[in-house]
Amino acid sequence: MMRILIVGGGGREHALAWKLAQSTKVSKIYVCPGNPGFKGLAECIELPLDNYEKMADFVEQEKIELTVVGPEVYLVNGLVDVFAKRNLKVFGPSALAAEIEGSKAFSKNLMAKYKIPTAFFAIFENLEAAQEYIKEKGTPLVIKADGLAAGKGVVVAQTEQEALAAVEDMMRNLKFGGAGARVVIEEFMEGEEASVLAFTDGETIVPMVAAQDHKRVYDKDQGPNTGGMGAYAPAPVMTNELTKKCIDLVLKPVLAAMKAEGRVYKGCLYAGLMIKDNEIKVVEFNARFGDPETQVVLPLLKTDLAEIMLACVNGTLADMKIEWEAKAAVCVVAASGGYPAKYEQGHQINGLEVAQAMPETIVFHAGTKFAQDAVVNSGGRVLGVTATGENIAEARNNAYAALKKIQFKDMHYRSDIAWRALR
Ligand code: AMP
Ligand code: GLY
Repeated sequence: MMRILIVGGGGREHALAWKLAQSTKVSKIYVCPGNPGFKGLAECIELPLDNYEKMADFVEQEKIELTVVGPEVYLVNGLVDVFAKRNLKVFGPSALAAEIEGSKAFSKNLMAKYKIPTAFFAIFENLEAAQEYIKEKGTPLVIKADGLAAGKGVVVAQTEQEALAAVEDMMRNLKFGGAGARVVIEEFMEGEEASVLAFTDGETIVPMVAAQDHKRVYDKDQGPNTGGMGAYAPAPVMTNELTKKCIDLVLKPVLAAMKAEGRVYKGCLYAGLMIKDNEIKVVEFNARFGDPETQVVLPLLKTDLAEIMLACVNGTLADMKIEWEAKAAVCVVAASGGYPAKYEQGHQINGLEVAQAMPETIVFHAGTKFAQDAVVNSGGRVLGVTATGENIAEARNNAYAALKKIQFKDMHYRSDIAWRALR
């Protein structure tokens, strides 16, 4: 029997705990820091998230066999490396491998070197050179801070003015700190996006069912970008033919490329794809599970997640058969009033138990906390109300039926999650 530590405390980590708790191999799950949604699944604990040696001490003391890391920051900062030195097993890439997300310049140069399809790009460390390039190329252009910027370091600039303002903000005003001292400027790609998460042990890579996120805050993809207002899986845009292309032109080549660069990649690799005219290009790689994609992918996974994760760590993924339910899942995010801008916290959330009891429903908690005996909102994205069904339409009806049972002051959500699948 296995004891597990999950690092993180959002909807993605709740989904990981929910799935791992179903494993017959798992006896106990700790989560750090967790949130009220983990009640009954995992024990929430406080650990110094900036001190990996202290975290490793806890893992040794508690005889935890596997640590699973949710957010990218701990991967990029080397949690896996510290744990590996102490012979502790972690599902996730090393710091060198996590650079595939931690540096967009690294990731774009890698794709160029190994001929992995992606948007045309140039990299700048000098503001004047970036300004000249923008004037020469003309818009639309996409400006990206090189380093981690909590999902906010990308500007899709429709006009030259916006593009120039973006490089000014990033490179001169250091809006994202050191992360923006270097920028990637790339060609704007048209098409439909899909997220393909994949399990890998460094040698074998196995994609999960494809998902689609909804980044804009309002219906019909209007308004500013968010961390993701909902997701569904499987995404019909990823046909069998495109899935094969994704494996042959993206996943296998990038795995081989990372190995060739001395950065063997293990864990979950997230490929953000742009699809147009039956062709795939990579928008970005992430070194972790997607949020909210994980909330719709894991409910469809038939195989024991703990066994898959151990196989990824131990290098035996080729021996595993990973199976999926022939069903669909939809997750609708309930957000705090005002999100993604400023929002109020501390409003009591009602109806959680009624919603949770609805057919095929799981209410994943993202930004919640306990205040006295009540559960209140404590983040921008508060809940990921997720449901399965025989198909996307049914899953969506189930998810919205459950969502309607939940109320908190100023709650808002999109009413059109999965619209692309139902066109
Ligand atoms: P990223 O953080 O790189 O995933 O970028 C965030 C979002 O910006 C993506 O999900 C896309 O919607 C958009 N985006 C990024 N790069 C491009 C591009 N080259 N062309 C069009 N849209 C892009
Ligand atoms: N859903 C987007 C991400 O996880 O990066």
